[in-house]
Amino acid sequence: MKIAVAGTGYVGLVTGVALAHIGHNVTCVDVDLEKINLMKQGISPIYEKDLENLMEINKERLNYTTNYKEAYQDADVIFIGVGTPEKEDGSANLDYLYMVLDQIVNSLKKDVVIVIKSTVPIGTNDEVEIYINNKIKSGIKVMVVSNPEFLAQGTAVHDTLYATRIVIGVEDEKAKKIMTTLYEPLTKEPYNVPLLVMDRKSAEMVKYASNDFLALKISYMNELANFAEKIGADISLVANGMSYDPRIGNKFLNSGIGYGGSCFPKDTKALYFSSKLYNSEIKTIGACIEVNENQKIILFKKLKEKFKNLENFQIAILGLTFKPGTDDVREAPALVNAKLLLKEKVIIKAYDPIGVSNFNHTLFNDVSMTNYKEQISYYNTIEDTIKDCQAVLIMTEWPEIKEFDLKKYESLMAKPYIFDGRNCYDLKNISKYAIYYNSIGRKVIDNCKEKISL
Ligand SMILES: NC(=O)c1ccc[n+]([C@@H]2O[C@H](COP(=O)([O-])OP(=O)(O)OC[C@H]3O[C@@H](n4cnc5c(N)ncnc54)[C@H](O)[C@@H]3O)[C@@H](O)[C@H]2O)c1
Repeated sequence: MKIAVAGTGYVGLVTGVALAHIGHNVTCVDVDLEKINLMKQGISPIYEKDLENLMEINKERLNYTTNYKEAYQDADVIFIGVGTPEKEDGSANLDYLYMVLDQIVNSLKKDVVIVIKSTVPIGTNDEVEIYINNKIKSGIKVMVVSNPEFLAQGTAVHDTLYATRIVIGVEDEKAKKIMTTLYEPLTKEPYNVPLLVMDRKSAEMVKYASNDFLALKISYMNELANFAEKIGADISLVANGMSYDPRIGNKFLNSGIGYGGSCFPKDTKALYFSSKLYNSEIKTIGACIEVNENQKIILFKKLKEKFKNLENFQIAILGLTFKPGTDDVREAPALVNAKLLLKEKVIIKAYDPIGVSNFNHTLFNDVSMTNYKEQISYYNTIEDTIKDCQAVLIMTEWPEIKEFDLKKYESLMAKPYIFDGRNCYDLKNISKYAIYYNSIGRKVIDNCKEKISL
């Protein structure tokens, strides 16, 4: 099948490469010439495990272009994976989606299936079909299919090939047949992905319902963690106790500094916004959003509570991306904490294995931060980052951060104050060191008290 994919971000590029891997000819389209030029050289513009390797293996079936007309005019299926960021009021911004639709209208020469992979408000697919059929030349049939994406960044390639499910929302028998044929290789050995066909609105809703449920789980565990701290319980033990109930399961029960990334924050806000629009407010999601906003700055609050005045403090931030395994810093808790610290006149020393460039760019893209550039510097090793710092904030649980030798905190910092937003260390282990350790939902270990004269 001849396939075009609009957008070569985490969803678009991974989808395109996965479809090439199962035998389709795919042209990936982006408006960003720099990205296209990189991909033409076999370089992925985003970091995802195995992605470049699959680009190489399937290069005969993969093209990259900014020339959308060439890609769309005779495609059998066009996937759309452009961004749908949040607007200020929390609703989804569909400008990029409609830009692609206009480009498709200007290009099409034959019938086509348009597949919306971007996460869009429930009802968007219906609106898109009306929009496009009103604009397209007569004689051309356009079928719109909802096919939400469930990949997680960091494991995007695996999540696409070995997906938990493929959800297809269709209103048209022909489109259903085309989509079933297109995905057939993934429904068989070795992938065996379940294919669920339903109406378009339900398919759109599966996406929001799933992401928001996961966000809810996170906020619930974080609120419990804050309570556990107050009452003297240990949230890790509580979570473990809960996980034995198969109705609860053992995933997404960790407490921390809240969810970030390009999906949970905007998808919770978008569903909440929609529900209010239809006079059917989903109150649990409203609460989940509020809890997360507070949780993102919990380490900053702990730091302030401990030291009161942070002026001229040298503080290490370990981990800048919103989670390990990705270079994405969108809505990363490290960003909001860095901003608060810089405004408190803190000197920040920061470390991340792959997120530094995105982090620095995003931090100073905010014009209100321009005057703080001198206060932050980046280091290639954890050792250099924490050296001579008065406190360390652990923001992302990269393996090298989780496994960092505690002895080095003792030797490289005069007074090792660690505020761990990801509960990387076992409390029993921490207790063996002359370290102050404040994590989430667990008791504070204060073993460097006697050395302190702040
Ligand atoms: N990132 C995820 O983990 C994830 C998971 C599931 C669903 N989603 C959803 O998928 C969508 C895309 O997310 P993403 O993270 O891949 O976005 P992204 O920002 O990484 O990529 C979007 C790409 O679209 C390109 N683009 C913009 N306008 C274009 C146009 N007219 N033609 C061609 N390309 C154009 C941009 O240049 C960019 O490269 C969003 O709706 C998101 O909610 C994302």
